[in-house]
Amino acid sequence: MARRTIVTESPAEAAEYLNKGDIVAFPTETVYGLGADITNETAVGKIFRAKGRPGDNPLIVHLASPEQVDEVATDVPDSARLLMARFFPGPLTLVLRKRPGVSSLVTAGLSTIGVRCPNHPVAHEFLARCLHPVAAPSANLSGRPSSTDWKAVLEDLDGRIACILKGEKSSIGLESTIVDCSEEPPRILRAGAISPEELHTIVPNIAIARGGKQERPKSPGLKYRHYSPSAEIRLCGEEYGACEGGKGFAWIGLSPPPEGAARTCRCRDSEEYAYRMFRFFRECDREGIGVICCEMPPPEGIGQALRDRLQRAAERK
Ligand code: TXA
Ligand code: MG
Repeated sequence: MARRTIVTESPAEAAEYLNKGDIVAFPTETVYGLGADITNETAVGKIFRAKGRPGDNPLIVHLASPEQVDEVATDVPDSARLLMARFFPGPLTLVLRKRPGVSSLVTAGLSTIGVRCPNHPVAHEFLARCLHPVAAPSANLSGRPSSTDWKAVLEDLDGRIACILKGEKSSIGLESTIVDCSEEPPRILRAGAISPEELHTIVPNIAIARGGKQERPKSPGLKYRHYSPSAEIRLCGEEYGACEGGKGFAWIGLSPPPEGAARTCRCRDSEEYAYRMFRFFRECDREGIGVICCEMPPPEGIGQALRDRLQRAAERK
């Protein structure tokens, strides 16, 4: 697709593109999404091509309001109803049994479907103007850091997608927490802004997935390399030892920055770390930095999700 990508601030214009079968990037509070109409298989196929995404990695379906969940899912258990009542709209994705009518291209052949209702006024207005629910992965090239602002979307996908709906930077900066409610007990498949502690206040028996490397992961996307800038990510901090960056390295973390770092990003707390991390990775790439040392945050609250993303970003393939 050698067409230029349109950037608009109008949810109505963006929804027009989507409704006629184009793919459209849009802001959410977690990261930007790249959406297609779930009833249009040609459009859904464009998402996989534009991102270079493996066909066995299912997409999350985005809803304008929680009531739409019954359009795409069936046999919704009480645990999911309770979580929706508390956390929708918000940074939570629930995996539920898929309705037979929903295209298996969206779910990569699985009998389950991930659903999320973003807590973001522009996303809401956009989704409300789309004729059907919207399948959307994060709006980045496969393997790259997720996009937390519209410029990052343009950097990765210019000419590959029809339209970007421009909004503010994503206020959280990390992807949603994923909870699989299709089986008992429900299980956390991906850490995110909503912590296990918060989930347990609503549904006490939610399990935390271990996801060994050999077995087929329950969340297919978890087996791929993820979130990685071109720069090498090296982990440092209490359990990982001192920062070893070599010449001209960058550093991000919570402590005072090490000496000799060419570029640093000191964050007040893990929330700020999450908000800045992916953007910092992209800035370092633009500057041609070879190594980014990342201080591991403590495993509390959103710190668990940060640690998960940092560990994956540091895996070299
Ligand atoms: O915050 C978010 O979740 C963002 C915004 C755009 O909503 N979306 C996002 O999508 O992070 P993506 O495609 O980058 O990650 C979705 C993850 C993948 O790991 C995928 O395998 C998993 O969700 N997933 C989707 N449907 C699933 C299903 N039915 N069962 C298990 N895992 C599923
Ligand atoms: Mg992604």
